[in-house]
Amino acid sequence: MSFTILGTGRAIPEYVLTNDELSTMVDTNDEWIRTRTGIEERHICKKETITELCVEAANNALENAGVTAAELDLIICSTMRGENLTPSQGCMIQKEIGATCPAFDVNAACSGFVYALDIAAGYFERKRVKKVLIVSMDNLSNITNWTDRSTCVLFGDGGAAAVLGEGNDLLSIHITAVGNDAAIRIPHGTNSSPFYEHEEERAVLYMAGNDVYRFATAAMTNGIKKAVEDAGLEQKDIDCVIPHQANIRIINTAAKNLDIPRDRFFCDVQHYGNTSSGSVPIALDEANRSGVLNKGDIIAMCAFGGGLTTGSCVIRWNK
Ligand code: ACO
Repeated sequence: MSFTILGTGRAIPEYVLTNDELSTMVDTNDEWIRTRTGIEERHICKKETITELCVEAANNALENAGVTAAELDLIICSTMRGENLTPSQGCMIQKEIGATCPAFDVNAACSGFVYALDIAAGYFERKRVKKVLIVSMDNLSNITNWTDRSTCVLFGDGGAAAVLGEGNDLLSIHITAVGNDAAIRIPHGTNSSPFYEHEEERAVLYMAGNDVYRFATAAMTNGIKKAVEDAGLEQKDIDCVIPHQANIRIINTAAKNLDIPRDRFFCDVQHYGNTSSGSVPIALDEANRSGVLNKGDIIAMCAFGGGLTTGSCVIRWNK
């Protein structure tokens, strides 16, 4: 037994940061950002805390699933940096939504949602759970270097949640990691020890964009190929691809390399930018709520990011 997705929900901060406004902060322009990334705007936290967003996404997903917080057997939060080091973001969600089940966090950067699905599948397989809540949320604006035009234009805040129940709709799942702190790295930034001898680094994102770009196009192409193959399907059987929304050119390249028509790739990068682990589930929720998905559809999801990590899976949509 694996699971079925019972419902999804998202939470996006209110403030919209346009390319034009960014152009007043760093030496960039709307045309460069659109043509190189496909991004038109992103949402940034001003008033919202990450806990508030997680709770909003969780409640939206529970409502969409017709499940109450009291029914949950496990909460997994995928995030790079929750509100506190402890309690975990998962425990904060549990407290705020009124659940009583175990809760913990997983950090696989942008691949976090697929990693969390894989972990949840193990709990279902071992019959330890009947209902699981996954919340994938990052607040990248607080670790963005707002003076670095090569990275600050790429990211946004927000995330989404999914409620899983017993079922057999996970057809394949595949996660990878290649330890690498040269391509993408975000240091902690603080060390309160008076004894520690290393220099502190700013807690901002460092990225070798071109290296990540090459890694990303291969990861998306190979990840989807492998997940489809492991599911015993052919690429033409995929009704909808939910790819990590980092750059429209990465999605276009993957589509060219695969035998899946480009119009089956769901894209919302233009509105959100790269929201890290929120990216795939936000797109899944948009596809769910906008009627793009039909009961019985075969969905491929694929993400890549810091670690370097990747995650891909094929799921039957049964809602
Ligand atoms: N505005 C204007 N010009 C810019 C900007 C900007 N915002 N950023 C860079 N440039 C300039 C560069 O300085 C360079 O100028 P030069 O030729 O005079 O040196 C020129 O544009 C081209 O720069 P490139 O870096 O070659 O641009 P490229 O087309 O490769 O796009 C990008 C860069 C968008 C970062 C691309 O490499 C990319 O998408 N990489 C993948 C990022 C990613 O997917 N990250 C996901 C993981 S992140 C995570 O897990 C949290």
